[in-house]
Amino acid sequence: MKIFICKTAEQVADTANKIFREVVKTKPDALLGLATGSTPLGLYQKMAEDCRKGITTYKDIRTVNLDEYVGLDGTHEQSYRYFMNTNLFQKIDVQMSNTRVLSGVAPDLQKECEDYSAYLAGNPPDIQLLGIGGNGHIAFNEPGTPFDSRTHIVTLKENTIADNARFFSDISKVPRKALTMGIADIMSAKKIVLLATGKNKAQAVFDMCEKPISPDCPASALRNHPNVIVVIDSDAASKIL
Ligand code: PGA
Repeated sequence: MKIFICKTAEQVADTANKIFREVVKTKPDALLGLATGSTPLGLYQKMAEDCRKGITTYKDIRTVNLDEYVGLDGTHEQSYRYFMNTNLFQKIDVQMSNTRVLSGVAPDLQKECEDYSAYLAGNPPDIQLLGIGGNGHIAFNEPGTPFDSRTHIVTLKENTIADNARFFSDISKVPRKALTMGIADIMSAKKIVLLATGKNKAQAVFDMCEKPISPDCPASALRNHPNVIVVIDSDAASKIL
């Protein structure tokens, strides 16, 4: 695991963008594993800027996303499909038909998960972007999730619901269930880039880097992966310095 500590969140976004730019330049039809949440927004702005300026074209890339809430369709403003469309896909030249996000309203959620894992088994992402939850989760793989998990339905933990309540008018509106890539799906990516910014991530970053590798901290699984780059600001790094 390589760790880059940047002074600011802006530099985190810039460093991540350079990594993604290189992947797309080397392989124009790369499969990019993408993430939602506050952390990747700076990166997505830089990707959009690169596209506008003609530095990078995403016209042949394919994308997959980590997770989606159960019960929200793609037109719901808090669905992850909507997040991706508005924060990235509509701002770059990707073909929408090449973007894949789990459907939280699929008639058979179990089948949706199985199809997703089957796709990933045949198409390991060239690069997978991750954030990290305050409790060490990656995607919606909460503490206790087995490292061999594939895409599955999860019941969110209270602290994750509380963390995500800021995006909803009321905590009671936060969905209680989600679909998520499993840890084994994430680990199948050829390269993984985890971003974290802010003091509220310092403990999770410490646990990921320093605690024993264990499902107690799902992100600690990444230490078993041969090609992980952690890009964090000095606040998120404050407990490992
Ligand atoms: P955040 O979420 O980027 O909104 O902090 C990260 C996560 O929970 O994985």
